[in-house]
Amino acid sequence: MNATTSPLKSTRMHVEPLPFALGAIVTGVDLRQLDAALFAALHATWLEHLVIVIRGQQIGDDDLTAFSARFGVLDEVPIVSKGQAPRYNKHISVISNIIENGVPIGGLGDDEVLWHSDTSYRDVPPSASVLQALEIPAKGGDTGFSNMYLALETLPPSLRERIDTLSAKQDITYTAGGQRRDGFTPVTDVRACPGATHPLVRTHPDTRRNALYLGRRRNAYILGLDVAESEELLDTLWQHATQNFLAWHHQWQAGDVVVWDNRCVMHHRDPFDASGRRIMHRAQARDAARPARDPAADGAPHPRGQHYLAQQLAR
Ligand code: SIN
Repeated sequence: MNATTSPLKSTRMHVEPLPFALGAIVTGVDLRQLDAALFAALHATWLEHLVIVIRGQQIGDDDLTAFSARFGVLDEVPIVSKGQAPRYNKHISVISNIIENGVPIGGLGDDEVLWHSDTSYRDVPPSASVLQALEIPAKGGDTGFSNMYLALETLPPSLRERIDTLSAKQDITYTAGGQRRDGFTPVTDVRACPGATHPLVRTHPDTRRNALYLGRRRNAYILGLDVAESEELLDTLWQHATQNFLAWHHQWQAGDVVVWDNRCVMHHRDPFDASGRRIMHRAQARDAARPARDPAADGAPHPRGQHYLAQQLAR
């Protein structure tokens, strides 16, 4: 998978695929000035590499939401944890460890954020998450991304077959950083917690490839199984899906805008030192329809992860 430069006139968009199971660095674009052809090229790059890092963007919140809206229906921000500053824009989540006048300006603090895909507890979770780095600490706070097409494709065949028609409930109560959301009570029975139910195997509506869709681990429950059986199967799937060979960890630079595809990617955030300042703004867009497993999808693998595996084997 070689680096490419867009042949489009008036742009020097350059795409550098990363030597991992997903990801590419994009340079030479200004997100405030994307015509239809250039956005189509960027969108195709995103579908091919699953996560794109667009370097050097000096953009405001309106630019961020306008860019995000090109990926689908602009989403409203998630419900935050108690004590956090009220949202200041219904489409922008602030992710930050900064406390001003005793009140956190954003969510997720400086702790580890566990592997998840964004707002999977909603009936129609986001397709694209768009995260802009405004301030970055000197060390830590890297964001990991993991290829869920490849996670599905590398499952043992019997396990792959077992989960093909199963669905899991996704709990809304806690953020992936472990904070309880404002207005929710602690969960005592995973079968009864609030949230949406989604198939464990979903067909990506654009690429038509199937991916493993785990959402979030805490309080998840696989419908139709008893709780112990569900826990055991979820543990096995999560152990598989969080292996290093599926992942790449991004070290941020201020000015990066990263777009990931929640339909086929999970992400994770490393902790960082509380004395460092980290401020990120996130917008997200969704598809029109809820996640589904389409039996007509032919089950062909997505080329990005397969290319990476073939390279590893050839070494
Ligand atoms: C998240 O969206 O889960 C947080 C990502 C990050 O802070 O890098």
